[in-house]
Amino acid sequence: MLLDLIQNRKSIRNYSEKNIPNEDLKKILQAGYYAPSWMNSQPWKFILVKDEESKALLSQLALNQPHVKSANAVIVCIADKNAWNRENFGKVLARRGMNEAGIDKILSVPMLYPVLLGDDKVLLRSVEQVTYAISYMMLEAKELGIDSCIIGAIANEATVWQEDIISKVNEKLNLKEGEVLISMITLGYAKEEEKPEKMRKDFDEIIHFERVGQKFEV
Ligand SMILES: Cc1cc2nc3c(=O)[nH]c(=O)nc-3n(C[C@H](O)[C@H](O)[C@H](O)COP(=O)(O)O)c2cc1C
Repeated sequence: MLLDLIQNRKSIRNYSEKNIPNEDLKKILQAGYYAPSWMNSQPWKFILVKDEESKALLSQLALNQPHVKSANAVIVCIADKNAWNRENFGKVLARRGMNEAGIDKILSVPMLYPVLLGDDKVLLRSVEQVTYAISYMMLEAKELGIDSCIIGAIANEATVWQEDIISKVNEKLNLKEGEVLISMITLGYAKEEEKPEKMRKDFDEIIHFERVGQKFEV
């Protein structure tokens, strides 16, 4: 059951030396590729990183978190702000069957077209889309018996700007202007079997029925 998979997934930070087969890495990336996005905008790029030097650099970007370096593979998740420009977003809408007039109409409504609301909103909406793809990739990994951890404590334009390390990473990964590294997924096999222990707030603190404060009882 998918719920069992979700409940048993746990962030794993200690990995064995075992190599992940490329076929499995491809399946994980496909799970991101097929994830849903707003109007099918797909404002993302996913970069599979296995190179030791690159992983060491990515670890530096993430407050030197050791599991970025020791992971067998890292998927770098990019929010692509360029996906929203007239040309790129227009292509996506045209593939949905929209004509030029229809596209112009969409692009004139701020709720539908974040570019009209400024760069911060474009980043926000791009990040929103990428997070769905990240979840899909982590669950596919778990399905394949591969453990993972999301790395969000990183320097970028949404957190803190660290010019030196950000430029080095951008150059190493060949990122263009407007392509923002927003998180990474570390992948590997857990060193030791870890009992999944889900530390979560109480179910009733999070889940409500009809209105906040009312329990959903089954
Ligand atoms: C957006 C986001 C960013 C995260 N960043 C980090 C991180 O930088 N380093 C890390 O070790 N774990 C990170 N995590 C993992 C969380 O700590 C973990 O999901 C949470 O403690 C719940 O544990 P679980 O995943 O085992 O259920 C992040 C999770 C999310 C969703």
